[in-house]
Amino acid sequence: MKRRKFFRILRLIIGLILLVSSVDGNWWEISSPLVNPTNLYDICPQIINNHTQKKLSICSQPQGILKAMVMGAREAITECQSQFKTRRWNCSTVPGTGRFPKALRIKSRERAYIQALTSAGLTSAITRACARGEVADCGCDPRARLMPSKGWEWGGCSDDLAAGEKLGKAAIDRKSDDKRDFDVIVDLHNNEAGRKALQKQVQLVCKCHGVSGSCTVKVCWRKLQALNNVAKSLMERYEGATKVKLSKRKKWKPAGESVRKPTKKDLLYVSDSPNYCEADESLELLGTRGRECNRTSVGTDGCLLLCCGRGYRTIVRMEEEKCNCRFEWCCKVKCEKCIVRRDIYICN
Ligand SMILES: *[C@@H]1O[C@H](CO)[C@@H](O)[C@H](O)[C@H]1NC(C)=O
Ligand SMILES: *[C@@H]1O[C@H](CO)[C@@H](O)[C@H](O)[C@H]1NC(C)=O
Ligand SMILES: *[C@@H]1O[C@H](CO)[C@@H](O)[C@H](O)[C@H]1NC(C)=O
Repeated sequence: MKRRKFFRILRLIIGLILLVSSVDGNWWEISSPLVNPTNLYDICPQIINNHTQKKLSICSQPQGILKAMVMGAREAITECQSQFKTRRWNCSTVPGTGRFPKALRIKSRERAYIQALTSAGLTSAITRACARGEVADCGCDPRARLMPSKGWEWGGCSDDLAAGEKLGKAAIDRKSDDKRDFDVIVDLHNNEAGRKALQKQVQLVCKCHGVSGSCTVKVCWRKLQALNNVAKSLMERYEGATKVKLSKRKKWKPAGESVRKPTKKDLLYVSDSPNYCEADESLELLGTRGRECNRTSVGTDGCLLLCCGRGYRTIVRMEEEKCNCRFEWCCKVKCEKCIVRRDIYICN
């Protein structure tokens, strides 16, 4: 075997063993770029044989679902990074590994958000894979066609979210023997909150058929919307997340007296967040030194909040920009290139 190929495979196997040992609670670590969703399944049998003592629920998933898990987690991480772009912790992964920092093992608000969003991402990815015929146990929603319609007909393939939820739940929710563990109960609640947020994202889409654009026949089906909406709505739940503590009989209750009782759609956390301001090697956190901030904003992207009171420095960057654009008949816009001076603010 060629040396380079050998090392690539070795890296893949090590990555897979690392992730498999942390799967279940942190199943989303399969989103690592080290893992190629197409040959993940080929490698699984070897890992199962060598670690027979350990139950590797992830490798027992059918290939279609395994692939959807990888894709769903990747999509969720992209959405998380766009929602947290301006926050002290920007949802970044540990450089070179693609996995989240150890800080995410703390049952914080941030963990609750990731838990819910990856659960929704997984469910959405499985549901869409079902509609494409990539998963054996599911397909299009047969019940959609039984619902009443007015002025249009059912057609096409309706996304079967209920089936996706069932398969997603089986893939990531831990088994009932773990349910005595308080931490697991909180994770399971947040997984469910993610699926609940996804339920609002099934919408009717229609297409017109008829001569030259007329709508003689209108055909409609139910389609899951992009994960972006879920990421946004979970952000509101993140802001209003409820801190809980262990109550009698292995259940949770709100940690404060005045806190309203959270619903199934709310996110739960157990511990306060770590300090995302300063770098912390043991938690694999980078801190906010060197982050770009906005001098005039009073929001999370503002230098005041983002730099955690350490102040900021200004650097001047010369940037090329399109300028003096003219419209030319017909139909072009011609621009010149100008050098503009831009002030950039960087956290100390
Ligand atoms: C599993 O064990 C066999 C024999 O001990 C070894 O050749 C193989 O490389 C191992 N595979 C992995 C993925 O560790
Ligand atoms: C997040 O912030 C770190 C610095 O703390 C930076 O290196 C990284 O590129 C940022 N990542 C994203 C996804 O914005
Ligand atoms: C900085 O924040 C202000 C106020 O929120 C906003 O109007 C402006 O567009 C922001 N600037 C940049 C570069 O994002």
